[in-house]
Amino acid sequence: MSTPHNPLDGLGDLADRKISRKGLLKAAALAGAAPVLIGSGVALARDAVAADVPAPLTPQCSDGHVTGEQIEGPYFKPGSPLRTNLVTPGTQGTPLTVSGYVFGRNCVPISGALLDFWQADTNGNYDNSGYTFRGHQFSAANGAYSLTTIIPGLYPGRTRHIHVKVQAPNQPILTTQLYFPNEPRNATDTIYDPALLMTVRQVGNGSEASFDFVLNVNGTGSPSPSPSSSNPGSPSPSPSNTGGGSTTWTVGASYKAGDVVTYNGVSYVCIQGHIAYAGWEPPNVPALWQRR
Ligand SMILES: [Fe+2]
Repeated sequence: MSTPHNPLDGLGDLADRKISRKGLLKAAALAGAAPVLIGSGVALARDAVAADVPAPLTPQCSDGHVTGEQIEGPYFKPGSPLRTNLVTPGTQGTPLTVSGYVFGRNCVPISGALLDFWQADTNGNYDNSGYTFRGHQFSAANGAYSLTTIIPGLYPGRTRHIHVKVQAPNQPILTTQLYFPNEPRNATDTIYDPALLMTVRQVGNGSEASFDFVLNVNGTGSPSPSPSSSNPGSPSPSPSNTGGGSTTWTVGASYKAGDVVTYNGVSYVCIQGHIAYAGWEPPNVPALWQRR
């Protein structure tokens, strides 16, 4: 039986068909998995937690709603570890889980989407020398993701937030930030966007947050090659390649799993389809490129 805190459980039967968030909530409630899934709708956060603001209508994929972009900020660092748990022994702070789904514009869940999270520690500091509170993961076959972390601390000039980059296979990267309801600084932070509020509930000595990403792409609903599998697909040149063998890694090129490139004289094989951006050079992004 599913555990109440993990969106990866109990929804496999929903993975390959079109799902609205309202539909998910209804199905979850019927399945008795209400504790976490009741928090899957963004609007519920505002309805249930932020009672001091008017409750907007529930945004749904079918409304044409997509998750908005936000600035990257100065503290993104490529090369984060592949992990869903950012908490390590001795970590200070209030436990927090963030979970939800990645959808396409057409409401179909996106599997294999890259989610790269980074945030401040409980004192409001980013780790710019190491990878504390930095990690990337890939959405499951039903589009679900789950992050175990702590509530980030405040730092001057900003309200409380978590940074994330989300990228469907072979699609551009969405860079955005997630926010917490009932934060006094939400009212004064000029970057803050209420559409990016998470649902946050107190559970024991920690918090559970949820947020569904809706990317401005068409979801496929079918699993894509997983970087954890040993089957990266058949090498074949991408449209930007000149054909055969490896080519030099190029910003703006579209790569798919199995493509081979060279960067600074080293060969890498693509393990996740994507469009190459500056800052995502092969040695910096183990989620996307594996050294041969
Ligand atoms: Fe930040």
